[in-house]
Amino acid sequence: MKTQTLIALALLPLFHSFTFGATPGGDSLRAPSHLRPSNLESFMWGVAYYPDHGEILTLDMDAERMKAAGMNTVRLAEFAWDLMEPEEGKFDFSLFDETIARLGAKGIRSILCTPTAAPPRWLTVKYPEILRVDSQGVVMSHGSRQHASTCNDIFREYSRRITRAMAEHYRDNPHVIGWQTDNEFHCHFSQDYSVGAEKQWVEFLKEKFNNDIGALNRAWGTAFWAQSYTKFEDVPLPAAKRPTHLNPAHHLDYFRLLSWSVTKFQHDQVEILRATQPKWRITHNGLFDYINYRGQFGQDLDILGYDVYPHFTYDDKLRASHQAWALDAARAWTGNFWIPEHQSGPGGQTDYLHDNPEPGELRRMLYSSLAHGADSVLLFRWRTARFGAEEYWCGVLDHDNMPRRRYAEIAKTGEEFARVGPALLGTHVAIDVAVAATDFNNTHAHETLNFKTPSTDLVAADLHRNLWSAGYSVGVVHPGDVLDGLKLYIIPQFPLIDPAWVPKLEAWVRAGGVLVIGARSGTKDLDNNVVTDLLPGALRPLVGATVVEYGRQNIPDARPLEMEIGGNPVLSREWYEQLEPDAGAEVWSRWTTRHQAGSAAATIHRLGKGSVLYVGTYLNGAVGKAILPELVKLAQLAPPLPGVPQGVEIVRRQSKEKTLWFMLNQTDEPKSFKAPAGRDLVSDREITGDLQLPARGVAVIQSGKP
Ligand code: GAL
Repeated sequence: MKTQTLIALALLPLFHSFTFGATPGGDSLRAPSHLRPSNLESFMWGVAYYPDHGEILTLDMDAERMKAAGMNTVRLAEFAWDLMEPEEGKFDFSLFDETIARLGAKGIRSILCTPTAAPPRWLTVKYPEILRVDSQGVVMSHGSRQHASTCNDIFREYSRRITRAMAEHYRDNPHVIGWQTDNEFHCHFSQDYSVGAEKQWVEFLKEKFNNDIGALNRAWGTAFWAQSYTKFEDVPLPAAKRPTHLNPAHHLDYFRLLSWSVTKFQHDQVEILRATQPKWRITHNGLFDYINYRGQFGQDLDILGYDVYPHFTYDDKLRASHQAWALDAARAWTGNFWIPEHQSGPGGQTDYLHDNPEPGELRRMLYSSLAHGADSVLLFRWRTARFGAEEYWCGVLDHDNMPRRRYAEIAKTGEEFARVGPALLGTHVAIDVAVAATDFNNTHAHETLNFKTPSTDLVAADLHRNLWSAGYSVGVVHPGDVLDGLKLYIIPQFPLIDPAWVPKLEAWVRAGGVLVIGARSGTKDLDNNVVTDLLPGALRPLVGATVVEYGRQNIPDARPLEMEIGGNPVLSREWYEQLEPDAGAEVWSRWTTRHQAGSAAATIHRLGKGSVLYVGTYLNGAVGKAILPELVKLAQLAPPLPGVPQGVEIVRRQSKEKTLWFMLNQTDEPKSFKAPAGRDLVSDREITGDLQLPARGVAVIQSGKP
């Protein structure tokens, strides 16, 4: 037996205690749900590390400091293809071999990345056709990243080669615990009009329409503006403004192509990694547009990664609510996730530099991330780079490698995470109310036709913020997911309704749920064409009312249309619908002005123990604020803990055995209130009465059964 294999076997127990999950290659994300805990066996806490940027020179010191901050994991090599394959077919992994071994000797494990977000120059010199092309025909160039087309067969072949070479080289390395595919697919650029995209477009359409061009013509309504096609090869990639408006069905299928092709690109890598070493766990760091993470893309992974940078919100008063929304939406895709990159200092690229997190802010945002569903976290990055487009993207340490205030805060947090981290695993985030979002079709159909109205996700985010600010346990749930445990569910504005969702929604309502549906829902089919049924289409039996007239409000201040909510007039800004209840439903609110005065603006349909409220306008802005107290009454919603002062966020993570109460002071003032009895895992002491939280202070109280 080779020495290497013997060493690997000797280290096996250690290796296992650090693996991502229990079931090799199985238990992947095939059943995505916001309630799904991750399959991580241990809590990973660490940092993105760059020996390739010079850190190899300080590696031993760095490893000591990481250990002193409680870290156990690094992520490596996502942009180092040029170092690992300096010439075609000549591989040199020595830098990473040394890094992995020396970190491993100190108990720090490595997650490797396939380096395909930044191919080496020799590849694009040899094959310029692999460069992406934008909708105006501009060819991307070497010098930044994400310039190669994931649709391109040649690039896919080279992606498989580097993945295979790395995988085989690290197959038996006991310190390598898993992989991240590529880096943030679609982060900067996702459009693709290259030759590779043209070729895949034809393949995608043939697959989708089962090789039947007639089916495409019918599904897209190509009778309009002489668009009919006789063969798939003639169908162009839709390019906006060349010269004018596009067919929404054609356009949405293009967005589906982008998701389909990046899924294939990732799948190539996943197949190789799984076949080489089934113990590895595989992840990707998102989340970006034109990828359906609930579909095959997510199902190929063991856990979805979400990169968290709250300081892109410059107004610090809004940061916590934005972060809560983004994290809840991340969890809605597949369940608990992890964070391959978390803000650890002010981020900066060539044209911006974030505010430096003030004392306590980094720690507070890390706890927000855990509260909302992260099961592990790595910081971005260890030491600030001295060169490149991110020479001011500040990490834990400054350019001079001196540990200062940020390091001290990270080390303190790491000491606490030794208790908090393991307690998280196996728990899910408990919510009472949810808004619907993260539906690929509705998110992207908005771009194909929107009349400049707010997007589905924007309305959802607005509703989420109102509920969050009022202290309710709010989350985000996809309409195809389980609704168990929810009292209130709001589908803000979903034109594309999958009829398969409806029976489940109905069963949940009959069991006591309050379902709220906003205007324009159910107006389109899954091809993105308007339905000719009475509106709201597939939702009409559930809603128990018909939309008999609708209109866009373009100048609402000059021609105000108001509806009555809770006894007060409220201006509807974007859109109105006149409703007629069918037998069984009642008018819930009426329009009070102009030609609609007296007609129904909202209806309620009582079904079983629950009800369906349909509101004939958008649910953001003033309408969203005014309707909230009414929805709270209807669903008998209450905050999870009474008497909590404004500015303290309470989030619960639960399993059958325990509840973890996250208490996050989002303000600059100290707060005190009566907390549940239990052990605060942050301060490591029992809490029996009032809890004192300093400015930006946090507690995680573990109590018994939910
Ligand atoms: C992420 C990316 C990293 C780095 C970081 C800071 O989006 O994955 O490579 O660029 O942001 O900009």
